Amino acid sequence: MDSIVVTGNGPLSGQVPIAGAKNACLALMPATLLSDEPLTLTNAPRLSDIRTMTALLQSLGAEVVPLQGGQVLALSSHDLIGHLAHYDIVRKMRASILVLGPLLARAGEAVVSLPGGCAIGARPVDLHLSGLEALGAEMELREGYVHARAPRGGLVGGRVRFPLVSVGATENVLMAATLARGSTVIENAAREPEIVDLARCLRAMGARIEGEGTDRIEVEGVERLSGATHRVVADRIEMGTYMLVPAICGGEVECLGGGLDLLPGFADKLDEAGITVRATEDGVAVSRGNGRVRAVDVTTAPYPGFPTDLQAQMMALLCLADGVSVLEERIFENRFMHAPELMRMGARIEVHGGTARVTGVDRLKGAPVMATDLRASVSLILAALAAQGETVVNRVYHLDRGYERVEEKLSALGAKIERVAA
Ligand code: UD1
Repeated sequence: MDSIVVTGNGPLSGQVPIAGAKNACLALMPATLLSDEPLTLTNAPRLSDIRTMTALLQSLGAEVVPLQGGQVLALSSHDLIGHLAHYDIVRKMRASILVLGPLLARAGEAVVSLPGGCAIGARPVDLHLSGLEALGAEMELREGYVHARAPRGGLVGGRVRFPLVSVGATENVLMAATLARGSTVIENAAREPEIVDLARCLRAMGARIEGEGTDRIEVEGVERLSGATHRVVADRIEMGTYMLVPAICGGEVECLGGGLDLLPGFADKLDEAGITVRATEDGVAVSRGNGRVRAVDVTTAPYPGFPTDLQAQMMALLCLADGVSVLEERIFENRFMHAPELMRMGARIEVHGGTARVTGVDRLKGAPVMATDLRASVSLILAALAAQGETVVNRVYHLDRGYERVEEKLSALGAKIERVAA
C-alpha cells in the first residue's frame, strides 16, 4: 500500500483547479440506466470510486467509456442486460445502492446487495427502501440482498416524507420518480448541490422536476427519458479542503471552478475563525495573515450547514487555533477516527461520543500516522503540511477514492509532498 510523505515547510500559495464532484458524479452515472439513449458527463473526476461505479454499471450491461483521460464519461444503457448489483462491487462503495431506483424504474426489478458495515457508522439503507416502497415497489431482504420489484405496469407516483435528511435516499427516489406514473412529492428532501445537479441532468434528459434545492421536490413522471450531455458540478468538498490549506499553513490559495454558494456553512466558519474568504472571477480565494486562527465551535448538519465531509479537515485546522473548539458530529456516529492520529502529531483532543473538544496547541509535529477513511486521510495531510518535520501517512488508498492528483495539486502550491509506493 502506498504512503504519502509530507514535510511541513511554511506558507503555501497559488491556484488549484477543483475537479467535478465525486458525489454528484456517483449519482449522475446511474441515471444512464433510466434511458436507452446516450448520456455524456463532462468534468468528471478521475477517482477510484468512479471506476467502481463504472464496473458496477458495466456489470449491468451499460457501456461506460472514459474519454479525454477520464474527464468525459460516455454512458449508454441501450442494452440493459442485468439487474443484479453484486456484493463484490457494492461492498467497496456504499453509493452502489444508487442503481436501485433507476433499475426498478426502467427494468421493473432489481437485486442489490446491502452495502454492509462502514467505518464511519452503521449507515443503513432503510430510507432508500421505504422511499421506493412509497412508489409501489415491493421489497424483500434475502441473504444480504434487497430483492425489489415494481408493480405490473411500473412504479407509481406517491408521497415520500423522509424522517431524516438523506442525500442518497433523495437521489434514489428522485431518479425512480422520473419514470413513475403520475406525480411524486418528496418532503424533507436533501438540498445538497449534488441533488440540484442531478435534477438538472434529469431535466436535460426530459424529466419533469421542480423544487430541487428546497426540502420539497415534485416530480411528474414521464413515459421515457432521452439522452443528454451534462457538466458535473464542482466538488465542494475538494474545494473546502484546499481552502483550508492557506488557513492552516498561511499564504493565499485560489480555488478555480467552484463558487461560495456551494459551501455557505463552511465559509461562515472560516470567517469566524479569522480567515479571509472572497469570491473571485474564477472561483474562491482564501488567505490568512499573520497570527493564529481563532477557535470556533462547529456542528455538522445537512446543506446549507457545515458539511460532515469537511469535519475532519476542519479539526486539523482547529488543532492549531487559539483557544478551545467544540466539534459536534451530528450526521454520522463514529466519525472521529482521525482524532487519535492527530494526537500522535501533538494535538490535544478529547472525544466523548459525537463531541470532540479541541484545545489548540502552538505547533504540531510530524509522525507516522494511519489514514482510516477518505476525509480522515486528507485531514492528516493538512495537519502534516503545517507540522514541523516529516509525517508519513499510511494506507492512502482511501485518499484515491476522493482526491484527484492530490500530491500534484499540493506540490504546485509549494508543498513538500511525495507518494512512496509500498
Ligand atoms: C452522502 C455522501 C457522503 C456524505 C453524506 C452526508 C455520496 C456518495 N456520499 O452519503 O459523502 O457524508 O451524504 O452529507 O453522496 N441514513 C439512514 N437510513 C438511510 C440512509 C441514511 O438512517 O436509509 C442516515 C445515515 O446513517 C446518516 C444520515 O442518514 O446518519 C445521512 O446519510 P445520507 O445523507 O444518506 O448519506 P449518503 O447519501 O450515504
